[in-house]
Amino acid sequence: MVKISFEQKPYRKVIMQTFGADVTPSPSNTTEIGKKMLEQYPDTSGSLGMAVSEAIEVAMKNKEAKYALGSVLNHVLLHQTIIGQEAIGQMEKVGEYPDVVIGCCGGGSNFAGIAFPFLAQKLAGKKTKTRFIGVEPKSCASMSQGQYRYDHGDTAKLTPLFMMETLGCDFVPPSEHSGGLRYHGIAPLIAFLHHEGLIEARNYDQKEIFASAIDFAKAEGIIPAPESAHAIKATIDEALRCKKENKKETIVFCLSGHGMLDLKGYEDYLSGKIK
Ligand SMILES: Cc1ncc(COP(=O)(O)O)c(C=O)c1O
Repeated sequence: MVKISFEQKPYRKVIMQTFGADVTPSPSNTTEIGKKMLEQYPDTSGSLGMAVSEAIEVAMKNKEAKYALGSVLNHVLLHQTIIGQEAIGQMEKVGEYPDVVIGCCGGGSNFAGIAFPFLAQKLAGKKTKTRFIGVEPKSCASMSQGQYRYDHGDTAKLTPLFMMETLGCDFVPPSEHSGGLRYHGIAPLIAFLHHEGLIEARNYDQKEIFASAIDFAKAEGIIPAPESAHAIKATIDEALRCKKENKKETIVFCLSGHGMLDLKGYEDYLSGKIK
């Protein structure tokens, strides 16, 4: 588990332990790659890229172990399109169609999941001006600030190369509470669509997203994950734009997770500890 999440999300760790897992913070002393990372960056809070490298090493050395790389791979994106397919059905039920579709972006799977089925309809000729917005943390904005080029999916360069928008596989994002968005690249399909101008990218800092998360919790009675709060902030901003322009638009966003395992982040925000 990435060290920063190990420290910030203690109950996520307990859930894993409940189901019998041994949980080790990454980078760890249990792999050669982890040891090397610790030598190179002794005070690091870890990153998804480092944890992926360690997991691959464990899988390569252990016949019993298999490793499947997660949300930055295209097949994972397509798997998640069940979200958008359901959203299309839900929209039909209420007689609406989105003008804007929004999701937060780590590797990209929940954003692609909600956006791709709507985008597919648009590309197939449906008469719609629907916009698609992927939202990232300012501190790790691979779409907004990365380069469109081949790169590895992990820090130690053990994965194949992927054509993606990347901050560089050795980029170590600063510590922050949206651990799931601290990934150096964005999935090839999303990178391509962004590069082609078919989707938009936006980024926010931690304070902004927690403020929106709290507004949302008060309005809806749901405490969102800090990752999802990026999508919420963009949704609120789009709604405010509509208000200013005196327009009525339908905005759909993906609430990718609840924040009940992220209360430490909320505590830090509410007590003014978040910079
Ligand atoms: C709640 C939540 N939302 C979003 C993400 C980002 O992942 P992806 O971009 O693959 O959807 C994560 C990743 O851990 C997450 O925990």
